[in-house]
Amino acid sequence: MTAQPENAVVVEFDQHTPEYRLGFPGIGHDIRSKCPVAFSPSHGGYWVVTGHDELTEMAKHYDLVSNEHDLDGSRRGYEGISIPSQNQSSAGFLEMDPPEQLAYRRVLNPFLSPAAVERWRPLVEDFTRACIDDHIESGRIDFVEDLANVVPAVLTMAMLGLPLADWVIYCEPTHAAVYTPPHSPDFPRVREQSMAMAMRLAECVAAARHDPRPGMIKALIEGDIDGSPLPDEGIVSTVSLLIGGGFDTTTSLLASSLDWLDGHPEQRRRLLDEDRLIDTATEEFLRFYTPAQGGGRTITADCELAGFRFREADRVFLSYALANHDPGVFPDPDEIVLDRWPNRHAAFGMGVHRCIGSNLARMGFKIMLGEVLRRLPDYTVERAGVVQYESIGVINGFQHVPATFTPGAREGVGVSEALVQWQARVDAERDEQEI
Ligand code: HEM
Repeated sequence: MTAQPENAVVVEFDQHTPEYRLGFPGIGHDIRSKCPVAFSPSHGGYWVVTGHDELTEMAKHYDLVSNEHDLDGSRRGYEGISIPSQNQSSAGFLEMDPPEQLAYRRVLNPFLSPAAVERWRPLVEDFTRACIDDHIESGRIDFVEDLANVVPAVLTMAMLGLPLADWVIYCEPTHAAVYTPPHSPDFPRVREQSMAMAMRLAECVAAARHDPRPGMIKALIEGDIDGSPLPDEGIVSTVSLLIGGGFDTTTSLLASSLDWLDGHPEQRRRLLDEDRLIDTATEEFLRFYTPAQGGGRTITADCELAGFRFREADRVFLSYALANHDPGVFPDPDEIVLDRWPNRHAAFGMGVHRCIGSNLARMGFKIMLGEVLRRLPDYTVERAGVVQYESIGVINGFQHVPATFTPGAREGVGVSEALVQWQARVDAERDEQEI
């Protein structure tokens, strides 16, 4: 709870409302023009940071701007990254401060470096092809359900060392958890689903202690903080975080980009014709849509940051999405300019919590987008069937983006068979490692 500070510029702002979704990104300009660090009385009161420079400055000070989430009363009452706070579970090391947070990152970094991520390129290519093959003869696909949900989820399972076919079990609870706002009547049910998923993951981690498959879960089990093993609850919440991070963000980026390209056929053509445009276009879609909209923080001591005074325990929302539309940094910020450069966007966050999965995200997105453009070049989105998330306050995404296109020929097996083939391949690699 943050009492309204004297002299603060007070604005009406709540990232979970339909007004925010409909008014994005214009709503940010209005707030920023009043003050780049304003105060919203919603959800018990919090500061909302929309200025790019102010956000960059604040994200540097992890000692004063904390991610901690005090679930067991041992961490000074801090409320973590969600506004309003979610007192049910922790978002793994995203809700820890250094040095604890860095112990987890150290374990995971080797799996997420550019070189490590390249190892998974064949899997991403194969499942992208398989998803398209399942639909290419019919001339109809839902870009979210049939492609963007599937490929990142199967990839995450593989990297964790979980059975690939289990992606289905985690998919819907993970998406529902981000698109269901706290005031929705569905919220209690969705929370139940998330708890059930966490329990299932706890069982998987327990089982992996006896029979670990190569992957990030095994590495976490073998990891340590100053010589002591990482605690069970830290491992389980981190696996949940990796599922959330891995599943929903790249999905949203692809859905948003394909939706935009539907309305801009000449830009779609350019992307197909100009090979190198995909790199700058990826950064521009990241900037413009900012799939992970921002993060909550707690101020640890009375202080002045970026020219603003804060008090201990104040809550703050770092809006990466609105900072990404700051006209002081991005000329014509509300235009998508596929060859925009430079593009110092904040879509992967800033500071010590900057996204650890950015290499993976970029690779997956570029492969999926490239294949859709190559194989379904004339797709048309069926507007009547498009469903955007009710709340984009956590993730700016879609539940459905259905499209039609001229039917084409298959190039290989579908998803069910690809799952069997890839599981056999992953198991064979595991057996080789054990010999
Ligand atoms: C387009 C795709 C993605 C976007 C836009 C994105 C965005 C972000 C952002 C903004 C943060 C910082 C959150 C904050 O400061 O509160 C973050 C952190 C994180 N992301 Fe991603 N992410 C993406 C893909 C991924 C993938 C594929 C993974 C899977 C490995 C992943 C795993 C994580 C993790 C574990 C963190 C926490 C890092 C830490 O606290 O040190 N992300 N991501």
